Order: sequence, then structure tokens, then C-alpha cells
Amino acid sequence: MEKNIAVLEGDGIGPEIVREGIKVLKAVEKIFNHSFSLYYAPFGATAYFTEGSPFPEKTKAVCDDADAIIKGPVGLAVNDMNTIPQECRPEVGAILPLRKRYDTYVNYRPVRLPKALTSFSPLRKEVIGDGLDILMIRELVGGIYFGDKVEGPATGMDYAKDDCIYTREQVRRVAEVAFQEARVRQLPLTNVHKANVLATSRFWNEVVEDVAKGFTDVPYVSMLVDNAAFQLVKNPAQFNGVMLLENMQGDILTDQAGGILGSLGLMPSACIGPEKGYVEAAHGSAPDIANMNKANPYSMIGSVAFLLDKCLELPEESEVIWNALFAVLEKGFTTIELASQGFNKEKILSTTEFGDMVVDNIKNG
Ligand code: IPM
Ligand code: MN
Repeated sequence: MEKNIAVLEGDGIGPEIVREGIKVLKAVEKIFNHSFSLYYAPFGATAYFTEGSPFPEKTKAVCDDADAIIKGPVGLAVNDMNTIPQECRPEVGAILPLRKRYDTYVNYRPVRLPKALTSFSPLRKEVIGDGLDILMIRELVGGIYFGDKVEGPATGMDYAKDDCIYTREQVRRVAEVAFQEARVRQLPLTNVHKANVLATSRFWNEVVEDVAKGFTDVPYVSMLVDNAAFQLVKNPAQFNGVMLLENMQGDILTDQAGGILGSLGLMPSACIGPEKGYVEAAHGSAPDIANMNKANPYSMIGSVAFLLDKCLELPEESEVIWNALFAVLEKGFTTIELASQGFNKEKILSTTEFGDMVVDNIKNG
């Protein structure tokens, strides 16, 4: 297969973890005889400083021409945020425009913790049980993130406003993907909402429940978001299967899930639209540990696995990467943030060593 892939390295730890993702992609490319052409382009705060825009026109052109996009995390340290005008900050000037441009309405965020890795979780053994396999599916281009905003002088500086809007079509299309994934897994779908307060949630539920009529084989659970946050900590395994979340609620609960895994470094993600998609680590750019060769590249390597499956329709290649990733962890190796007190120092890997070991596992099975 011949494909063009745009690579946006991003900020902070972005370039170093993207490098490991690409290393793994190249190993798979060779073994399966594919031909992936990579096109690097600036994106994020670094792009703002070098090009004057966090999502420069030339980067848009590279992404438009690509079959899929690999994106590293972007963003500045909180203390440095004021060095960039609000509209050019990577969040509103790069990430949200990227999502909008490709209408990436499905955001897959898997929460996978096999039994052998449950010690990573800060939750007690009896709470985490036999491990987790939750696919969180977050709606990514609607809701309060993309509604009209009013702030600043227009309000006399006395108030600010974010509109939350969902259309029937926006809810239907993401719900269909979520039910489909639950059907394949033969596991329940938990629909998360705040219908006791929000009109958009009541509407969301009406559409989701209509879609559910086409999936009577999928067990359906409906849960308020505050209760879901509570239940995620109290008994996370009840969610094994698929969770369907709207944009803002999904943003929060997916980070909470990262906490349950023990590290946001274990959160890969894929953002898929009707024509193309991009993959990214679900965490930030961790400027405090940038260029130290200690960031966990798991989320980026897992994102490359997602790219193969969800953007390029190569599920077998994707599975090979997942297996290699878990094999490294199951052999007891990890990066520093997951090493608990008294952890065998020889099993702590640097970013590059982790990537190398995944590649070795891919090559040697
Ligand atoms: C995420 C991030 C983004 C979001 C930010 C950086 C805009 O937190 O992908 O979860 O809120 O969606
Ligand atoms: Mn987030």
C-alpha cells in the first residue's frame, strides 16, 4: 500500500515521542511491504514562533494532500502562555481548527489495562480487578467547544458566554460509530450525559436512544456524567465495553481515565472524520520533561497503531503494534513516570529505548 502521511511533531515532548512512533511505523512498513511517504510540517506553539501561525497555510496544504496525519502534543507551559496572543495559542489556533477542517467527529480514546499491568493503577487491586478495556468515544467537533463565544469588550467586560449546540446529525453519526464498536466487541455501551440539567443532553439522549433501536443486540446503559465520574473510580470495570461521551464531558472523563491507568502517557487517541483522520497522544506537551529522553512514547506508538487501523484500514498491522507495546510492559519494562517506589532500576527505559524495544518485539514476535 502506498500512502502519504503528514507528520506534525508539535511542542515540548512532541518531537521525541513522535520520533518513536515513526520508528515503529517504519518497522511495520518494511515487514508488510508498504510504502509510506512522510511529510513533516510545523504545528503548534513552535510553528507560531517560527512561522507566525500555529497552523500555517503550508501545513494545511500538507495535511490536505495527506491520506492521514500524525500529530504530536502541542502547547506551552502555563507560565509561558501569555507569550502568545489568545487567538494564536495552540489550543484555539491549531488543534480546534485542525478538528474542524477535517470534521473529525469521532475521537477514540481506549483505556486498556491488561491484568498484568494493573499495578500501574493508583486504584487498589480489588477495585481494578482483572483490568480494564474501555473504549471511550468522544464527540469531537460539536457542543460548547464550537458554539458561539462572547467575551471581552463586547460584553462590557461584565460577563462571558459559550453556547452549547448539538444537531441531530452530529449526535447520530457519532452514536452510530459507538454502537457499531460495541456490537463488534459484544459488550455494553454506556451513554454519558447531564440530562437532568442540560437541554443539549436531553436532545443527545433522544437521538442516541433512536440509534439504539438499530442495535438491540447491544446492552445499553444510560448514566449521568457526575455519577459516571464517581463510578469510574469506584468500579471502573463496569464500563468495559464502549462509553459514548459528548465533547466537553468526554474531555474531562478521558483524562480521569488516564489517571486510573496511572499515566496519561498510556492514552493514545484517534480523531476521525468522513474523509480523513489524525492521531495524537491524548495528553499535553509536558514542557517540564522535554528533551530529557524520559517521556513515555506509548501514547504516540499506540496512536500510530490507531492510524493503521482507523485511517489506513490496516487492522492486522495495527494489532502487531498493540501486541508489541503490551509485550514490552508485560516484561516489566516501563518509563520512569510509571515506576513505583522500589522498582527495579534496570527496567526503567528512556523514550528511545522504549521505542527500540517495541521495534524488537515487532521484528521478533
Ligand atoms: C484534548 C485536549 C484538547 C481538548 C485541548 C488541548 C484543546 O485537552 O485533546 O483532550 O480540550 O480537546
Ligand atoms: Mn483533554
